[in-house]
Amino acid sequence: MKKGDYAWQKGRVPLYIYHYTDELLRVSQEAYMEYFTENAMGSNAFPSVAQLEREVIEMGIGLLGGGAAAGGTFTSGGTESIFLALKTAREWARREMGIDQPKIVMAVSGHASVDKSAGYLGMDVVRTPLREDFRADTKLLEGAIDERTCMLYASAPGYPHGVFDPIEEIGALAMKHGLWLHVDTCVGGFLAPFAREIGYPIPPFDLSVPGVYSLSADLHKYGFAAKGASLFLLADRDHQKYQRFEFSNWPRGSFLSHTFQGSRAAGPIASAWAVMNTLGHTGYREIARVIMDTRERLIAGVEQIRGLRVIRPSDLCILLYDSIDPDVDIYAIADRMGKKHWLVGKSITPKAVHIALNPLVAPALDDYLADLAACVEEVRSTKEVGKVDLRTY
Ligand SMILES: Cc1ncc(COP(=O)(O)O)c(C=O)c1O
Repeated sequence: MKKGDYAWQKGRVPLYIYHYTDELLRVSQEAYMEYFTENAMGSNAFPSVAQLEREVIEMGIGLLGGGAAAGGTFTSGGTESIFLALKTAREWARREMGIDQPKIVMAVSGHASVDKSAGYLGMDVVRTPLREDFRADTKLLEGAIDERTCMLYASAPGYPHGVFDPIEEIGALAMKHGLWLHVDTCVGGFLAPFAREIGYPIPPFDLSVPGVYSLSADLHKYGFAAKGASLFLLADRDHQKYQRFEFSNWPRGSFLSHTFQGSRAAGPIASAWAVMNTLGHTGYREIARVIMDTRERLIAGVEQIRGLRVIRPSDLCILLYDSIDPDVDIYAIADRMGKKHWLVGKSITPKAVHIALNPLVAPALDDYLADLAACVEEVRSTKEVGKVDLRTY
């Protein structure tokens, strides 16, 4: 059945996939299989799972600026971490601010899962336009705040453009209005600290920024753990009282849960623990170096192709490029690249190609650029126009 799938092993899938080395994959798989059958809900039955989970959370808090009061939850992915952020802020707003129907204010570039979660939770979302550099416009955020607003939401970086919102500015705004600030570092959480360590200018974005209440960071993205792994971190673990679900009105006693899920796979927890302990800071720094070097090579390569332009800024691992030649339609290029078996993401605003880098792109890059140059020449001669995909992710 896999015959029709894109060859991620050959670097042809610049999203969905986070693979470093076969050795790291083996470590991840062995740890996962060791805990294939256990249930992470059963911390009484499996104290070792609870310990793995605690240690992963502690590593995340240490990496992402949490102080002595910080706390966290291991979740199934970015969406669940974001859901829990909204749920926690909603209960906080109901009890501490007296807001019944809380509202979230964010820039338009925030991830779609905010609206998905808000729909489940009966919350409203207001999305404001971006600055010219694709970052959240703090003035517009402030203008959208009203008496029902309980939460500001910022991205570090956002998926559509790969840029960091001005977290310090938004933190100050949150404090001025007494709001909850959630920072979505699902993409950046396990990459940006290491890119900073090797010298890239990463702006402040984590739990240490004043005003930040919570943060989501995905282990199954640049943490390189098996899928089903993310962290939801709180600057103050006392706020877990708003995250918690407690119930006893049934014949089986009290039920307590901090996640959306009930039964939870233990495999991703074991995988994350093993991968983090195997890589350590040195390994993650090396991954950051591979990704950032690949980004530089990609920028140089794309800019050598007549008619293409890299869209700036790009703060981390996501890059956009478009066409500056009216005879060359960028979606037509994307379609032709697709025919050559490269999975190519189409950005709608701006109209561009979207690529999220992972280490597998490095060895494939020369082939990618050669195919790209050929596609540009083909499109220039045919003047064909590409399709707007209905499914753009
Ligand atoms: C910035 C950002 N936030 C949240 C998510 C959602 O994460 P998941 O797909 O793990 O639920 C993504 C996914 O790509 C993302 O890029």
